[in-house]
Amino acid sequence: MSRIFVTGGSGRLGRSVVAGLAAAGHEVVSVDRDAIPADQLPAGVVQETGDLLAPGEALRLLRETGPDAVIHLAAIAVPFSAPEDVIFATNTRMAFAVISAATELGIGKIVTASSPTVLGYGSPAGWLPDSFPLDERSTPKPWNAYALSKLIAEQTVAMFAAAQGTKIRYAAFRPCYVISPEEWEGAPTQQGHTLAERLADPALSAPALFNYVDARDVADFLEVLLQKMDTIPNGETFFVGAADALATAPLAELMPRFLPGSEALAAGLTGTSPAFSIAKARQLLGWEPKRSWRTELKTATTLNDETSARLVSAGSGAKETS
Ligand SMILES: NC(=O)c1ccc[n+]([C@@H]2O[C@H](COP(=O)([O-])OP(=O)(O)OC[C@H]3O[C@@H](n4cnc5c(N)ncnc54)[C@H](O)[C@@H]3O)[C@@H](O)[C@H]2O)c1
Repeated sequence: MSRIFVTGGSGRLGRSVVAGLAAAGHEVVSVDRDAIPADQLPAGVVQETGDLLAPGEALRLLRETGPDAVIHLAAIAVPFSAPEDVIFATNTRMAFAVISAATELGIGKIVTASSPTVLGYGSPAGWLPDSFPLDERSTPKPWNAYALSKLIAEQTVAMFAAAQGTKIRYAAFRPCYVISPEEWEGAPTQQGHTLAERLADPALSAPALFNYVDARDVADFLEVLLQKMDTIPNGETFFVGAADALATAPLAELMPRFLPGSEALAAGLTGTSPAFSIAKARQLLGWEPKRSWRTELKTATTLNDETSARLVSAGSGAKETS
């Protein structure tokens, strides 16, 4: 058991991360500007409220709580949800403040959240990858302040890893479009529509290249990462996604409709294959996502009959190919 300091613990992803780590037997310190309501605070989680951008605040909270590991999730998490200079300054300064304070205190394991958007899909000037599936070797080409701030967060852990050798272990991870448990039941997802709507209309999921991940699978990933960080190369970055695509048809068919010029590149994305590979997390960590829309959405009460029928038929077809 470790004591784990999680920033952004009140957020969409953070709530599942603190709950998952506490359920796995860790002591969790959740740190956020906004508190988790007391009646929703999982057993084994203590929370601290504070502004991690305030001078000295990250260092003070870390010193007072004395964790063995830090998971930094706090950020402005949605591109263009604030002025570009505010997103850039907030995310880069906060990542640096938390990672440098944790390093100064000699905390042994430090992990930061990045984003698949570092790759640059969705650029109004056009974008095509070198190849599919996308993986950690795909070239980042951020085109907005959010994506750039996340690439800098990755580079921040890489910089500290370069300076520390193996004294302190660092990693970054790129969670795909995060689905929290209540979103399977019909609560709005990050972009404001429901998961069922996102599946029924591929135009909603295409901007993220049909990626997604269950927030509880991210919590499991982080638990495994913390366990194994001592045994893998330092300063690594990982994609963390579901094993399938958030789509009811193969991406080999869907991708060219939304990403002009990708016919040949996407031809290998047959069956249920996602556009983002999680092979590195599987191979280096032995992590495997346990949830899929095919298992989780079945229980949703908000699907209308027509959507439900389409999803059930797509789900059973997909199982045959997986
Ligand atoms: N949700 C996704 O689909 C997704 C995808 C890729 C990456 N990410 C990354 O994962 C992380 C978590 O995302 P999320 O969806 O849970 O976001 P979220 O907005 O739900 O949560 C972020 C949390 O950070 C807190 N926070 C922001 N500024 C703070 C400050 N100055 N001091 C203290 N706390 C502060 C907020 O109060 C909030 O609770 C972010 O770094 C985000 O960029 C999320």
